Amino acid sequence: MSRVVRNNYVLIGFMGSGKTTIGRELSRTCAMPRFDLDELIEEKAGKSIPEIFAESGNEGFRAIETQVLRSLVRSGAEGYVYSTGGGCVTMPENLPLLKQLGLVVYLRIQPETVLKRIGKDTSRPLLQTPDKETRVREMMAEREPLYQAAADIVIEADHGRMDVIVDEIVEKGRQFHG
Ligand code: S3P
Repeated sequence: MSRVVRNNYVLIGFMGSGKTTIGRELSRTCAMPRFDLDELIEEKAGKSIPEIFAESGNEGFRAIETQVLRSLVRSGAEGYVYSTGGGCVTMPENLPLLKQLGLVVYLRIQPETVLKRIGKDTSRPLLQTPDKETRVREMMAEREPLYQAAADIVIEADHGRMDVIVDEIVEKGRQFHG
């Protein structure tokens, strides 16, 4: 069944896949303003992401994430690039919301790329564990089918070349819209 796709790009993918940096570049290239869902969540909560996780856990964080997604969908706004948080596909109710928001672009990377890019990062509560590699591999294996289910287009993003990735998003987006 075909759906009417709103004129927005919705970037999804694992932590470190480049949703923020590629989102910025895509926003510049297409002259479409960008919103970062993690930032909107922090604004709404009046707290940082690590604080939300520490005080309300994963469940509390996901509840705010879904509220933010829902309000964006309800706004009906078009002409935006949205960078999401890596776990937004883990809540089943978010999948239709992502689809309603716009063209869902999955930035796909391998576990090795995640570890290389954010292995030393301390700002992601879910990766604060001694054995990061096992955690990353497990989480990615769990999430891969969810990203695939949500995605309208899939972009291999390990190579990290912004210009190539942005061109590919625009081109595949065009093809998708027909
Ligand atoms: C999360 C990813 C983070 C942030 C939160 C949870 C996840 O966003 O939403 O720490 O569950 O993968 P980034 O993907 O932008 O790091």
